[in-house]
Amino acid sequence: MKIVVLTGSPHKIGTSNTLVNEFVKGAEENGHNVVRFDTPFLDIHPCIGCDHCGMNGSCVFNDDMPKILDTILESDMIVFATPIYYFGFSAQIKSAIDRFYSRNGKIQSKHLKSVFIATAWNNDEQVMSGIKKHIDILIDYLNLDNRGMILAKGYGYTGASTENKYKEEAYSLGKRV
Ligand SMILES: Cc1cc2nc3c(=O)[nH]c(=O)nc-3n(C[C@H](O)[C@H](O)[C@H](O)COP(=O)(O)O)c2cc1C
Repeated sequence: MKIVVLTGSPHKIGTSNTLVNEFVKGAEENGHNVVRFDTPFLDIHPCIGCDHCGMNGSCVFNDDMPKILDTILESDMIVFATPIYYFGFSAQIKSAIDRFYSRNGKIQSKHLKSVFIATAWNNDEQVMSGIKKHIDILIDYLNLDNRGMILAKGYGYTGASTENKYKEEAYSLGKRV
């Protein structure tokens, strides 16, 4: 199947991208075709809510987002990967998600399979509670078919003690999808 990956970290060699690399390795070994967009390095303007698109049309911004949206609509699975920033998605990936607005119904009707990956420095009970709720609502609202979540807490930097555990989890999830 075709898998589109959206990443949200400005650290090219950081924790969330490490897990994405493992996931992609597993998925590609399984014969899947992966297309990846690293949102912090792309031109993605935040949605300004002008409603020019009417939730189903062209956007006033002709940046990198139309290509990403076209790729999403050609894919079978979407993968979101983000560092936790103040208990939520990074602004970079959130800007891309907000731009789904112009293809909202089309994305919902695709019933895309989904995977979510998030990494956080803290290791306490509450650190993933906000994003977990957000992800659950997004899955429901966007009519996604949840195929896995890796909520990697206590993984604040490459080389952290939890790194291998989460790398193995990401690789095996990539192998399974
Ligand atoms: C702006 C900012 C906000 C952050 N907010 C949190 C937070 O709320 N909880 C937490 O545990 N870690 C927080 N962190 C730490 C990162 O989530 C953590 O280091 C993560 O592993 C970084 O992922 P990356 O290497 O993929 O960029 C924050 C880091 C930054 C730069």
